[in-house]
Amino acid sequence: MIQTTESPVKLSHAGMNENIQEMLQRLKIVTVIGSGTMGNGICHVFAQSGFNVHMMDINQAALDKAIATIGKNMDRQVAKNTLTEDDKKQALSRITTYTALADAVKDADLVVEAATENIDLKIKIFQDLDKLCPPHTILATNTSSISITRIGSFTKRPGQVIGMHFMNPVPVMRLIEIINGYATDATVTQTVYDLSKYLGKVPCVVNDYPGFISNRILMPLINEAILSLQEGVAGVEEIDTIMKLGMAHPMGPLQLADFIGLDTCYSIMNVLHMGFGNQKYAPATLLANMVQAGFLGVKSGEGFYKYTPGSKDLVVSSRFKNKQWKL
Ligand SMILES: NC(=O)c1ccc[n+]([C@@H]2O[C@H](COP(=O)([O-])OP(=O)(O)OC[C@H]3O[C@@H](n4cnc5c(N)ncnc54)[C@H](O)[C@@H]3O)[C@@H](O)[C@H]2O)c1
Repeated sequence: MIQTTESPVKLSHAGMNENIQEMLQRLKIVTVIGSGTMGNGICHVFAQSGFNVHMMDINQAALDKAIATIGKNMDRQVAKNTLTEDDKKQALSRITTYTALADAVKDADLVVEAATENIDLKIKIFQDLDKLCPPHTILATNTSSISITRIGSFTKRPGQVIGMHFMNPVPVMRLIEIINGYATDATVTQTVYDLSKYLGKVPCVVNDYPGFISNRILMPLINEAILSLQEGVAGVEEIDTIMKLGMAHPMGPLQLADFIGLDTCYSIMNVLHMGFGNQKYAPATLLANMVQAGFLGVKSGEGFYKYTPGSKDLVVSSRFKNKQWKL
């Protein structure tokens, strides 16, 4: 079967200013579901761009931590003169926190869901969102790999369901991968495209296949690095150094896995494995074991590296320190 690589959505660049003005008339309140690694960064960029942000999480401690993280990250921008102290205060004042979903979304124009990467959880959240949000609300998900079409099929508004895949760390990374579900309306894609530009990001529109583009390519690389470690081909430092110095990657794949969260990497590999039905995407056993044992990377304090609060040193976890030069 011949498939066209061209996006089915025709994006108009010409009338961008008009589009943006029209978009800003319609999108005033943005609710972000989940305030973990990604959720706090997404709230940060929306609040800094002038939107009223409702930050929702089931866990009050996660909300408190997210507000502190946003404040700290904005302080860094102030120190670099990329944000004024006054803009910081105003941006923070635009963020309200919620633990009850109904309160957080009842007047939302856009929802960006950034809760844990789990298909059943996301389906439940989108069923609830469909019931609780006004009819006009666009429902976006920051999922790294789960089918937008499938998530949308559990709502009565699949045309208004879209992928808005921010990169980590959100305030720094410029890309937003926009994913069209099979049923996503072209007008919704255009709105999210214009919005992404307004946030100062670079949007790229792709279609809904497992892992989209970013993780279809990145995750097998990370998984292969973990398989290489598991097989004793090389140690943590060697694998990351080879990819950093040899391929000019800013971060080695094992450090990047820790940064993303090993549980998230594991979920994405499972989606690729099931979605393509191809053994080449089977997650490494070492990755599965580390996730089961709670070694999730930066967020749990240990993964391939050990993280000490306040220290920026990259210290290989003691579990991987015994170098075996020959196996
Ligand atoms: N970590 C990354 O680098 C990265 C990059 C791009 C996209 N993503 C995607 O972003 C999403 C979030 O990932 P993360 O790394 O921020 O995860 P995380 O584990 O850091 O945070 C998830 C948050 O969701 C909250 N949560 C769980 N169930 C919830 C519910 N029912 N309602 C509201 N909040 C709920 C948790 O309390 C937690 O605070 C995932 O879909 C992930 O695939 C992650």
